[in-house]
Amino acid sequence: MRNINIALLGFGTVGSGVYNAIKSNEETLKKELNANLIIKKILVSDKTKKRAEDVNPNIFTDNFTDIITDDIDLVVEVMGSMDFAKKCILTAFERGKHVISANKDLIATHGQELYKAAYENNCFFMYEASVCGGIPILRVINNHLFGEKIEKITGIMNGTTNYILSKMYQEGLEYKDVLSEAQRLGYAEADPTSDVEGYDSARKVAILSSLCFNTYVTFKDVYTEGITNITKQDISYAKKMGYNIKLLGVSKENDGKIEAYVYPAFIPNTCQISNVKDAYNAVYLKSNLLGESMYYAKGAGSLPTASAVLSDIVNIVKNMSLNLPVERLDRNFEKKEILSIDE
Ligand code: NDP
Ligand code: HSE
Repeated sequence: MRNINIALLGFGTVGSGVYNAIKSNEETLKKELNANLIIKKILVSDKTKKRAEDVNPNIFTDNFTDIITDDIDLVVEVMGSMDFAKKCILTAFERGKHVISANKDLIATHGQELYKAAYENNCFFMYEASVCGGIPILRVINNHLFGEKIEKITGIMNGTTNYILSKMYQEGLEYKDVLSEAQRLGYAEADPTSDVEGYDSARKVAILSSLCFNTYVTFKDVYTEGITNITKQDISYAKKMGYNIKLLGVSKENDGKIEAYVYPAFIPNTCQISNVKDAYNAVYLKSNLLGESMYYAKGAGSLPTASAVLSDIVNIVKNMSLNLPVERLDRNFEKKEILSIDE
């Protein structure tokens, strides 16, 4: 049985989830993959921090140069940040390592550079966990709907704000009263401004739009409005009128022109999306053969996100054993007009 050595960059909410997911499903993974997934090293910022007791303390390092060594097959970046994470991933590619990342900030901004580096170094690059946590939405777009024309994407793409808005609706609270709970549950970003101001959803809209419409849509192209101005009174009025308020991400292509936005919207209670609660996400796609399809799962948190990372690990290991060629992820991309949205 082959050993697959993994360098894990980050051991916070997601990183510890990935570690636990691999440990708890060890036997199934061995049987299915005929390979042994071994977390060889873990990069953290503070080596002295107390970690779970079942993890070998000797595999932690705070020194990046220790981590991407010859024996490593796969690098899993679940650390966050922009410049340092980019440097780590580009170094991994240069050294011929396949990479998995959950870092939507980075991909929504520097996707083009990363796709190019992955292809030029013959490395697989997968990032299912970067969009909507446990929903395998990138796999749906890249595999199931690959031959279809996708016309529109709509959805709840942020678990933190959906958790907050659901609590505001159910318990009449203000958003600030619920934010700390969402942080404690591991849903929020290190800086939760990204969640509540809508930037996190905008990053996901950018990644989805790029893949659905085969062009580069970056974070800056997405008109973005968050939930910080939504009060409990707004929610109470919405409730009285038979509506809910949800933070939506929307993107569509019309005549080759793309529009992309994130905004809080009134949704009638008769719509399924109005009843998406807690940290769940829901994404609707409209494509020319299937028509409307909806995907639903928990969008944030340790294990739902780890499940997406693990699915990428499994896919890469399978690709490696089948000797599948690495394709450039943006090979079908073309230049398209992106409409700016007026406020
Ligand atoms: P956390 O803040 O919980 O964990 C971050 C981890 O990375 C920590 O272990 C930290 O080390 C380490 N780290 C941070 N900066 C550095 C650095 N410069 N050098 C070395 N190690 C570093 O974040 P999350 O686990 O929540 O998120 C990680 C990534 O996953 C982010 O990109 C996030 O956007 C993404 N993501 C998160 C989801 C979630 O539900 N939380 C869902 C989907 C994606 P130390 O432990 O020493 O502090
Ligand atoms: N902070 C993000 C959210 C994590 O709440 O959806 C998942 O991407």
